[in-house]
Amino acid sequence: MRRFIAVVALVASLVTVVTAVAQVPYVRTPERVVVAMLRLAGVDENDVVYDLGSGDGRIVIEAARRFGARGVGIDIDPERIREANENARAAGVADRVRFIQQDMFEADLREATVVTLYLVPQFNQRLRPKLLRELPPGARIVSHQYDMGDDWPPLRKRRVGLRTIYLWVIPGRNGENGE
Ligand SMILES: C[S@@+](CC[C@H](N)C(=O)[O-])C[C@H]1O[C@@H](n2cnc3c(N)ncnc32)[C@H](O)[C@@H]1O
Repeated sequence: MRRFIAVVALVASLVTVVTAVAQVPYVRTPERVVVAMLRLAGVDENDVVYDLGSGDGRIVIEAARRFGARGVGIDIDPERIREANENARAAGVADRVRFIQQDMFEADLREATVVTLYLVPQFNQRLRPKLLRELPPGARIVSHQYDMGDDWPPLRKRRVGLRTIYLWVIPGRNGENGE
């Protein structure tokens, strides 16, 4: 019976991973766009950068290597987490970044001062309430390619070659926009 439950649990977690990855396929942000995103957010050594759907870890690793930040990558796919950990070691930043295999909708974002996204519009929309609830006032969100919908316009929008990146700032408790 215990074995049956273990097999059911394994199949259920595989289905979750396959479904999520099918919804947001693994596509990497080009290096130049990674740097532009981190600059748009004004990342520095005081920041904790979370990449939701972190892939091979490139955004978090670059935030640590180039800007001295700490970083956390969340990805549902265990293969991506393995790859990201290897890349962090190779880049010499394994002491400043960590990668967690988790569904981003279950991640605790309260310590993040910057969140980066390269997802799909439906995921951005679904994340909105969570970002607004958990991030501290003044935290920055940068998204590659997709915005948050017409009713949450970005503070800034930049073209980087053929790509577009967007910046939002979590408002203060009394409604100011954090600028
Ligand atoms: C388009 S890739 C972006 C990778 C990386 N952030 C970049 O910009 O290069 C999206 C990533 O999201 C991950 N993903 C999809 N659904 C997820 C979920 N529910 N929770 C966590 N990660 C998820 C995929 O495994 C994939 O690695």
